[in-house]
Amino acid sequence: MLRVVVCVSGGGTNLQALIDGVKNGNIRNTEITGVISNNCGAYALKRAEDAGIPSFCVSPKDYESRIDFNEALIARIEELKPDLIVLAGFLVILPERLIQLYPERIINIHPSLIPSFCGTGYYGLKVHEAALERGVKVTGATVHFVDEGTDTGRIILQKAVEVLPGDTPELLQRRVMEQAEWVILPQAVDEIAMNEMIK
Ligand code: GRF
Repeated sequence: MLRVVVCVSGGGTNLQALIDGVKNGNIRNTEITGVISNNCGAYALKRAEDAGIPSFCVSPKDYESRIDFNEALIARIEELKPDLIVLAGFLVILPERLIQLYPERIINIHPSLIPSFCGTGYYGLKVHEAALERGVKVTGATVHFVDEGTDTGRIILQKAVEVLPGDTPELLQRRVMEQAEWVILPQAVDEIAMNEMIK
């Protein structure tokens, strides 16, 4: 059974896709053992509570320094003994020590077809604003392993989504979530759980 910890910061629709996937059997051999947010008001924490999953807020505001926050985050994660850490809209720069503790055992969902529209400053709506600004006809989402860089780890899955005339960043974000993110993130966790890529 793959033990998965999900890190979130916002609405938690990707977390919900994982919760639903485990419940309906699309994600096999997997247990979400905990949800951690840096944002105590994140609706994602309520989604976890509603699903009976232990949820925790580890907020930088509660710590004297970044180092203290980083160590508290690592300690909380370690307590949950994950096989896999999933970053689902987690807007925190991960401590390097965490990445070193979990090599090729942290995955992230990014709302573009990496290497387009990724890296420092590209998150949330900003990604879709940049795609529309550039005038691309196709965008999508990427699941990748997390390494020391920003959106630079090995790509696991990608799914393309059409950009439509008249798209706003909000409309495009919603389509990318519905048609790509909520599909490939559960698929990636299932593949990792079944291939036992991580041991
Ligand atoms: C998603 O758009 C995801 O691609 C990005 O952050 C957003 C998280 O949304 N990483 P949610 O919290 O899963 O609804």
